Amino acid sequence: MRILVIGGGGREHTLAWKLAMSPRVEKIYCIPGNPGISKIAECVEVDLADNQALVEFAVNHNIDLTVVGPEMPLANGIVDAFSSQGLKIFGPTQAAAELEGSKAFAKELMKKYRIPTANFEVFTDAQSAKEYIQQTGAPVVVKADGLAAGKGVVVAMTLEEALAAVDMIMRDQAFGLAGSRVVIEEFLTGEEASLLAFTDGYTVVPMISAQDHKRVFDGDQGPNTGGMGTYAPAPVVTPAILEQVRQQILQPTVDAMRAEGRIYRGCLYAGLMITEGGPKVIEFNARFGDPETQVVLPLLASDLVTVMESCIDGKLVEIPVEWEDQAAVCVVMAAGGYPGGYAKGDVITGIDAAESKGALVFQAGTVLKDNAITTNGGRVLGVTAKAPTILAAVEKAYTAVQEIQFIDMHYRTDIAHRAIRKS
Ligand code: AMP
Ligand code: GLY
Repeated sequence: MRILVIGGGGREHTLAWKLAMSPRVEKIYCIPGNPGISKIAECVEVDLADNQALVEFAVNHNIDLTVVGPEMPLANGIVDAFSSQGLKIFGPTQAAAELEGSKAFAKELMKKYRIPTANFEVFTDAQSAKEYIQQTGAPVVVKADGLAAGKGVVVAMTLEEALAAVDMIMRDQAFGLAGSRVVIEEFLTGEEASLLAFTDGYTVVPMISAQDHKRVFDGDQGPNTGGMGTYAPAPVVTPAILEQVRQQILQPTVDAMRAEGRIYRGCLYAGLMITEGGPKVIEFNARFGDPETQVVLPLLASDLVTVMESCIDGKLVEIPVEWEDQAAVCVVMAAGGYPGGYAKGDVITGIDAAESKGALVFQAGTVLKDNAITTNGGRVLGVTAKAPTILAAVEKAYTAVQEIQFIDMHYRTDIAHRAIRKS
């Protein structure tokens, strides 16, 4: 089979790496890819915003299966464009991807179908939003409705912060049109976890649970990032909680989307708060998580191509989806200054040495310059290790991290600390 992967970060490197393991795959292309991906796939530049050009690429290169990494192409309707030409593509349609693209849509859906989530109200004008905040008080969570590259959420501990967040999102339009509506949400407490699932629109198969570390510094201090590291499985998601999430959240959401005429196929990502009152949805994503994918897919024992095809063909119920009885840890190595401004173009050394320690080095923000792999993004690398236990995987991952160098790099030294405390 000939495969096309859309995207060029650590998530897509992991997807390409896992797809390449399938004996059914003869060739992989990636648009745009990165230097790590180019070891497995042929990387090609095509405008990701141009569905017609992407369809033409797939037709001209006899692509049998396309796998979409990031949310933007999904929100732009890439799946609709490919499907209408009879091309197989893994991911939700534009209408189904609204589950991530509009927080207001996701919240109204959960309310209508009684899917556990924080209480909320949606506002289209700043004044009413502020009056509501005055009534509810702090802490409270203020969210821009639309896609804001993971930055449209303010967890406000005081009234002042919450009111300022409304101004930032609605008046100053810090996230553009994504902020023409806001969701004001009840503040939830508990431990967070991510549960991704494969679905064909009917059957839902949860993957192994994972936990992301969103804050930049050790001890969960400092500003939020796209994710500084992950581990799987997450002990907070016990077998009982997993079953609860499947029955009360994942299956009802997929059933609800079908009932709304927006059948959801692909990867459904539930960001959860495990509260005293049970698991509740913080957000849905319409795609694989980054860096959750870097720990979840290495634990998948089954052939990913077959699983994805069965999601597209509505036959997920017919195939076994099996997991390795191991743990995985991913440490993200970031550029100095990230998540603020950071330099680019610094040479990275030691990737091969890290891999010789048994780790998988997934490249995220890298580019080839004068034959050297150099930094080209905030999150530069994800170093993943697998082992029988989380603790052993942590040790293996950090041993590999020691081999890698680039100017001003930084990473968290406490990935998986919650899991280790529990063990
Ligand atoms: P999101 O972009 O929706 O994932 O939100 C970013 C982060 O904000 C989450 O990972 C949580 O840590 C936090 N957050 C979002 N919604 C809530 C909530 N209702 N209560 C508490 N924390 C929240
Ligand atoms: N790791 C969070 C995300 O992919 O949105």
